[in-house]
Amino acid sequence: MARYTPDSRDRVRDAIDFVELVSTRTELRRAGPRSYEGLCPFHDERTPSFSVEPVEKVYYCFGCQASGDVFTFVQETEGVDFKGALELLADRAGIELQPEREDPKEAERRARRERLLELLSRTASYYERYLWESDEAANARSYLEGRGLGEEILKEFRVGYAPSAWDRVLLASRRGGFSEAELYETGLAQRSQERGGLYDRFRSRIMFPLADLRGRVLGFGARATGEGQKPKYLNTSDNDVYHKGRYVYGGNRARAAASKAGEVILCEGYTDVIAMHQAGFHNAVGLMGTALTDDQIGELGRMAKRVLLALDADSAGQEAMLKASKLALRREIDLCVVEMPLGADPAEVLEGNGSEAMSAAVAASVPFVRFRVERVLASGDDSSQGRDQMIAELREVFDQVPPSAMRMELTRLVSGKLGLSESLAETLNSGGGQAQGRQRTGREAHGPGGEPLRTADGAGRAGGGGSRASRVLSAREDTERAFLALCIATPAHGQRSLNEVDLDGVFTSELLRRAAEHLKGGHLAEPLKGVDAEDRELVGLLAELTVEAGRWPVAEGTSRPAMLEVQQLQLQLASIDRRIHAARAQGIGEVSDLARRRGEVKRDFDHAQERALAESGSEV
Ligand code: UTP
Ligand code: MN
Repeated sequence: MARYTPDSRDRVRDAIDFVELVSTRTELRRAGPRSYEGLCPFHDERTPSFSVEPVEKVYYCFGCQASGDVFTFVQETEGVDFKGALELLADRAGIELQPEREDPKEAERRARRERLLELLSRTASYYERYLWESDEAANARSYLEGRGLGEEILKEFRVGYAPSAWDRVLLASRRGGFSEAELYETGLAQRSQERGGLYDRFRSRIMFPLADLRGRVLGFGARATGEGQKPKYLNTSDNDVYHKGRYVYGGNRARAAASKAGEVILCEGYTDVIAMHQAGFHNAVGLMGTALTDDQIGELGRMAKRVLLALDADSAGQEAMLKASKLALRREIDLCVVEMPLGADPAEVLEGNGSEAMSAAVAASVPFVRFRVERVLASGDDSSQGRDQMIAELREVFDQVPPSAMRMELTRLVSGKLGLSESLAETLNSGGGQAQGRQRTGREAHGPGGEPLRTADGAGRAGGGGSRASRVLSAREDTERAFLALCIATPAHGQRSLNEVDLDGVFTSELLRRAAEHLKGGHLAEPLKGVDAEDRELVGLLAELTVEAGRWPVAEGTSRPAMLEVQQLQLQLASIDRRIHAARAQGIGEVSDLARRRGEVKRDFDHAQERALAESGSEV
């Protein structure tokens, strides 16, 4: 299972006729000298917003923001990983792939891992058979049935049962030719303290296989069935194969539905996920018996732009939500909360009130910041002390919301509730308080950064005017994106602009900064050249920027387009604002210098904007 050489990958990319490839999925028609368009194969739509560049071989959908290159296109449409896509395309183009010579150590490691995965997969099948065929599992079967979970969905999730005996998996694995060491490494067996021998770790439990995105079993969550059997859930501990914080439960089953819906629903428990899928919510996934991790948030963000939290309303669930919001802020994730009745989880809501109740709750989900503001407002009392407490808490919430329609809405909500004037309510966000700045780190600052200017970026992005939190939270990123797209549209001037700005200072998103760095390194003319093809995030972003660049109404002339200057100055303004904000919060005397610098940049900005208006006027 070696990798293939980068050269064979490039040959495949070069050989593929991208328009022909995409045409197998959706009908395309010419939309410009260097672009085609059609109905998006990744979401339902009536008017085409899917754009394909035949030369660069990239696509971008202005409706659902799907983007990528030949490889991601096949990955998404065929549900295969990068290697699978490469093989399919090589086949199609009749190109022979050259396997990379593998380091023997690496080959050995890989072979060892393959064996462990095979053992896990066989054991999952064993548990599965045991659930449906053994007398011993009769109680488990009726328990599951009593929970309203049908045979079909349980089989889909490969739910099983572990026998009560101490050595069934041990013996079966031995017969299958696996060593004790291998059994131990998978976490299926544990060592006896007294005698030192191995015995089965999971006994008399309902087994939920935990799989990676490709559906390969890596471990198990195991639910107790007997009275007094502790703990309620026993999970595979982290080992060489299984890392609990890295995946979400059901991710492999939910991926396609989540990407199509643009939403993924995060539940807490294994039974929640299965019940949700059974009820038709195919985009539900679960935590794996852990607090939410950054890796999991990343995983969710790759599945869909909008993440709906359907976690318990209890304090642990609340804690998880807060954590999720902090992690989501750094990514471009639109985080919403599905409000669950106190003490109920999705499985119980479905069992007790049916799927309509769940649908209604999902439809009524609110952006996370709004959810928090409402909770704070509902929690406090009317005393002046209570109000101070609420204001302190609200300040923390407002800290995370950039200037936006959402913020104005929340301000009105607060002023209405607390009987403050709106301008007073606005001081919640304007630096005055001690709570300000305390928990910020580095470039995570979300101060009043940047003018709420939306210059031209609205023009390029259909669907960009949505009122959901993601659009709001990413207003700043929109500007950063628009700037890079313009740089690509006019490579020579773009190169100069990229050389002029301080990339670390102006790009607030790590991904965009990486893209900028790549483009700056001589890649404006062919943005996807020289990118690691397996770096999905970067490939996707560059593809999107390239397609957007094609939409900018700028001609490559001798002087720098004013619009490019506008974008560049806007980024610099925002960057200065963040520094001013940080300096204020820390009481550092640098502020006046910064303010002066800001004045200069602002003047340039105003001039550039006037020129940009004139330029666009003369074009129309
Ligand atoms: P719950 O106790 O809410 O269980 O724990 P549940 O999912 O509702 O399970 P059922 O419906 O009673 O069978 C929620 C999740 O927390 C983890 C598991 O992932 C569980 O699904 N958990 C819970 C553990 O890892 N260990 C435990 O001892 C308990
Ligand atoms: Mn439950």
